[in-house]
Amino acid sequence: MAASESRYRAFLDARAREGLRRSLFAVAARDARVIGAEGRSYINFASNDYLALRFNAALIARAVEWAEDYGVGSGASRLLTGNLELFPPIEAKVAKLKGKPAALVMASGFQTNAAVLQALFDKAVLGAEPLVFADRLNHASMHFGCQAAGVGQLRYRHCDAAHLAELLSQYQGDERPRFILTESVFSMDGDVAPLEDIARLACEHAACLIVDDAHATGILGRGGSGLSGDADIVIGTFSKALGSFGGYVACSETMRDYLINRCGGIIYSTALPPPVLGAIDAALDLVPGMDEERLYVARLAQQFRAGANAVGLDTGASTTQIVPVILGSADAAIAMSERLKCAGLWASAIRPPTVPAGTARLRLAFTAAHQDSDIDRLLQVLAAEEARRPANAI
Ligand SMILES: Cc1ncc(COP(=O)(O)O)c(C=O)c1O
Repeated sequence: MAASESRYRAFLDARAREGLRRSLFAVAARDARVIGAEGRSYINFASNDYLALRFNAALIARAVEWAEDYGVGSGASRLLTGNLELFPPIEAKVAKLKGKPAALVMASGFQTNAAVLQALFDKAVLGAEPLVFADRLNHASMHFGCQAAGVGQLRYRHCDAAHLAELLSQYQGDERPRFILTESVFSMDGDVAPLEDIARLACEHAACLIVDDAHATGILGRGGSGLSGDADIVIGTFSKALGSFGGYVACSETMRDYLINRCGGIIYSTALPPPVLGAIDAALDLVPGMDEERLYVARLAQQFRAGANAVGLDTGASTTQIVPVILGSADAAIAMSERLKCAGLWASAIRPPTVPAGTARLRLAFTAAHQDSDIDRLLQVLAAEEARRPANAI
């Protein structure tokens, strides 16, 4: 056995002792509302398929059609022979949706953040290590990108534009290129960054604003365009409200050209396969016309927040379709998730290091597939459990 193996075992044992060990379990999904696991069915409150598009007939039809017409793989990286003729019209639709001159489609959203940021923060190209101002709760993939580029982050308090302003001022005379990095809707809190203030600061301090619009695109903003309006560079994914898979960056033509020449995620990775491109293409056609679904999901989330707050549950600063129920300890979050499972409701317990210590939670997400009765049932069970929880459980 390699010496490293015992180290990995020790890591796993420590995670288990702290109640933080993760494992994979198999689920069966035949529609956007219900999942099956271990022989039981559950209403799924843990999916990012906000518009319930992953079982949409139009997406499936175009995925099948493009698989039949173009095959199930693209065969190579986009710089070799993988840049199928399907890409340019899709990228034109993404650029239009995001209001940017150009767009580049890549593999997953994670890969897009990790690879694009690594390329953008290249010290040799920029002539110096850039100053990267980042929200403290940014997604792990953004940290990966910074780490891969070997740049430090100047992390401001979550959603705190005043703190960002303070940090920017400290570097006022510094000539190095500056970037501001934030999500629009935060994935574990469902709150929204103060994007107008941040964009103003970016302008005042000549910083390039990069917004990860993963959880807003499709479900928020005019025509589902997301919330990234004033950003210089928008990063996102087709794996949440758009129902399938893949990442994108929307930016200037120069930036797109630069990424094609410098971004490892484009250069060294096989292009997305035609069935996935078919699903993306159909989703991009549908999303602008889905206001009714967007309003419906917003209403369900609001209904849930009001009910949860009325029984004393802490939903943080959520204003979107993502609503945390913050419970404190990892054990409390796991216990609540198990109770919900007993009642046929699936809600994931999110623990450190995904969220800060002491803020373990259920992360609930509402989708166009949910019914009013699902929210009522969820509230009923949560209220009963909250009433039973000792007052000092946190
Ligand atoms: C803010 C944010 N960015 C990026 C990603 C990664 O996207 P994908 O799931 O397409 O890899 C996620 C998904 O978890 C996310 O929440």
